[in-house]
Amino acid sequence: MTRYTYLFILQIISCSFAATWVKITKPTITWEDMEVSLEGEKKFFCGEFDSSFTGRYHWRFNGSSILPERTQIHRNQFVFLAGANAIRNQLPGEYECCVRETLGNACYSRMIVVQNRTDNHNIDMTNSTLLLADEGNTYYIRMHDVKRVEGVKCTLDGVNVDNFKYPFLGRQTKKTVPYHLKIENIERGGEVNCDLRLHKKEIVQKTFDIRLLRGFISSSQLPQFVYLIVFTIIGYILRL
Ligand SMILES: *[C@@H]1O[C@H](CO)[C@@H](O)[C@H](O)[C@H]1NC(C)=O
Ligand SMILES: *[C@@H]1O[C@H](CO)[C@@H](O)[C@H](O)[C@H]1NC(C)=O
Ligand SMILES: *[C@@H]1O[C@H](CO)[C@@H](O)[C@H](O)[C@H]1NC(C)=O
Repeated sequence: MTRYTYLFILQIISCSFAATWVKITKPTITWEDMEVSLEGEKKFFCGEFDSSFTGRYHWRFNGSSILPERTQIHRNQFVFLAGANAIRNQLPGEYECCVRETLGNACYSRMIVVQNRTDNHNIDMTNSTLLLADEGNTYYIRMHDVKRVEGVKCTLDGVNVDNFKYPFLGRQTKKTVPYHLKIENIERGGEVNCDLRLHKKEIVQKTFDIRLLRGFISSSQLPQFVYLIVFTIIGYILRL
């Protein structure tokens, strides 16, 4: 075989492989174990073999170019923006980036898993007006000391929100319901206003505040947070 025939065969082989990507699987990352930057973001690199690669990176999520909400690609890094934690249940899956390295066409793929942290909390707010909640958790809330309700409607800071769910209440429901409002994957605090329609069309209202614990305080919010504490202390001293 001459040198040219050899090169020719090589050429054919590389052409037939041009459209195929070699898939290289990187170790799985657990969402909870990813580092959080000062901006509240979680990032990861493609993890390509040739780190001097300067071409385009193509990112896919579960095989689709439609990336999850609250994510972005920044300088070849995949970034989960601040606030992604609240929707972490939507983020598990396969994140894949493809690079055309000199070594070949490779897709580096890794799974991100989210631990089952969907803590469900049953809260009785009958005698309480403040709910201290953990971002991302789900709350089943009782609001009034009644056996039967025929309808519930709530707003958060005056608007309807999608993650407020209500128990199924059939017209002739004889059964009592264990909760009046379910807040799925709680995301922000505010004032909740509810109308509970009781038997015989009586309406009772319930208002309470949600304050997020362990909510992320971004560096831009930090000064405000410090001022708030300082003013609270000053206010306290002046009142004494
Ligand atoms: C992505 O794939 C994972 C499993 O590979 C699956 O659990 C998850 O629900 C998928 N997510 C979406 C949004 O398709
Ligand atoms: C997650 O944990 C909760 C409470 O421990 C459990 O009820 C639920 O079935 C679990 N979900 C999955 C998908 O494992
Ligand atoms: C709420 O307060 C009433 C009256 O003080 C009391 O009877 C009831 O047990 C309280 N409920 C809860 C859940 O603490």
